[in-house]
Amino acid sequence: MSIQRTFSIIKPDATARNITGKVNAKIEESGLRIVAQKRLLLTEEQASGFYAVHKDRPFYTDLVKFMMSGPVIVQVLEGENAIVAYRKVMGATNPAEADSGTIRAEFAQSIDANTVHGSDAPETASEEIKFFFAENEIVG
Ligand code: CMP
Repeated sequence: MSIQRTFSIIKPDATARNITGKVNAKIEESGLRIVAQKRLLLTEEQASGFYAVHKDRPFYTDLVKFMMSGPVIVQVLEGENAIVAYRKVMGATNPAEADSGTIRAEFAQSIDANTVHGSDAPETASEEIKFFFAENEIVG
C-alpha cells in the first residue's frame, strides 16, 4: 500500500446537471482527498490532446466534441492506492456494467456521458496531472 495521486475529470454531463457536489461526496466518502481542482471549458486542443491515445477509435470525434460541450472539473486525488481506488469508486466505463453504489452506476447516462474519467495507471496519472496542473497548484 502506498499514497498515490490520480487524475480525475468530472465531465460535462455532471456539470450540466449540477451534481458535481454529489460526485465529490462519493470521492471523499471513499477516503480519497481532492488535493487540486479547477473548473474549465476545454479548448479543442486540450480535449483532442488529452484523449489522443484514442484517436484511432471510432468514438474519438464524439468524445472530443462531448468533452467540449460544457464545463468540466479537473482534479487531482490523493490516497492509498489512489489509481485503483478511484477506478473502484467510478465503476465500469459503461454505466450498464458498473457496480451499484459507484459514481457511474448512480449518475452516468451513457458510455459517452459517463460522468467521470480517472487515470488507468501510474504513468498515465503522472502525465494527465501534468497536462492540467503545475506542482504548486496541488496542495495535499
Ligand atoms: P474515459 O474514462 O474518459 O476514457 C475514454 C472515454 O471514451 C470513456 O471514458 C468513455 O466515456 C468514452 N467511450 C465511448 N465509447 C467507448 C468505448 N466503446 N470504449 C471505451 N470508451 C468509450
